[in-house]
Amino acid sequence: MSIQATHAEPVGPVIHPIWVRLTHWINALAMVLMIGSGWEIYNASSLFPFVFPPAVTLGGWLAGALLWHYAAMWLLAVNGVVYLVLGIVTSRFRRKLIPIRPGEVLADAKAALTGNLTHNDLSVYNAVQKLFYLGVLLAGIVVVLSGLAIWKPVQLQELTALFSVYDAARYVHFFAMAAIVGFLVVHAVMSFLVPKSLRAMITGR
Ligand code: HEM
Ligand code: HEM
Repeated sequence: MSIQATHAEPVGPVIHPIWVRLTHWINALAMVLMIGSGWEIYNASSLFPFVFPPAVTLGGWLAGALLWHYAAMWLLAVNGVVYLVLGIVTSRFRRKLIPIRPGEVLADAKAALTGNLTHNDLSVYNAVQKLFYLGVLLAGIVVVLSGLAIWKPVQLQELTALFSVYDAARYVHFFAMAAIVGFLVVHAVMSFLVPKSLRAMITGR
């Protein structure tokens, strides 16, 4: 009997190194805390004619939500910087997320919608994934910068001026949140539809 035959699970190469998995799940937790507390903050003075159901908000009231928002923002920002720096110095972003060719995005989107997209090689992202991952990284940067601009509009007035005025930064912050929530819903559904990709983001293989 060969040695391989005693192993039921094939041991393939690592798809997601440990730093990607750790920062990914810390980010997922921090994002959920920031979204829930952000929605409670929004409900205290809504920008649009609707509020979020209290069942999905965090903090109970404005002051509680602000405490959650200002606590989890450190987790989000420090973890995000670690992920971005490592993504650049290890060339992960260059290898995995670029280039994105419009023709490939269209072809892969069509294949996805007709159920013809293969997920045989999890180490390579298709063009639609690349576009969405790069897009959510940008939305993450925008939500943090606009958040800082409305957190410290006096001390960081150059940053606030980047969004023109305080109120504009508040709208930018809101729409960046909406983009991230939209991404998260589709992203979570997709990962459950392709369970081996979820396993790879947990175990690395
Ligand atoms: C470093 C990161 C962040 C900082 C410094 C920050 C800061 C802030 C501040 C200062 C406010 C307004 C509080 C007030 O009006 O008194 C706010 C509101 C809000 N934040 Fe954040 N935030 C950050 C990240 C996020 C993230 C990641 C999300 C969700 C993805 C988020 C979602 C929201 C929402 C929905 C509101 C309420 C919007 C409104 O009604 O204006 N924030 N944030
Ligand atoms: C319920 C929460 C989440 C689940 C179940 C989940 C699941 C996954 C899975 C399975 C992958 C690997 C995809 C593949 O191999 O095709 C992945 C990658 C990724 N996810 Fe999530 N995710 C969650 C939350 C988030 C959030 C909140 C964000 C950002 C706002 C995010 C951003 C990303 C990015 C950028 C990648 C690519 C990472 C890289 O390769 O460096 N995810 N996620």
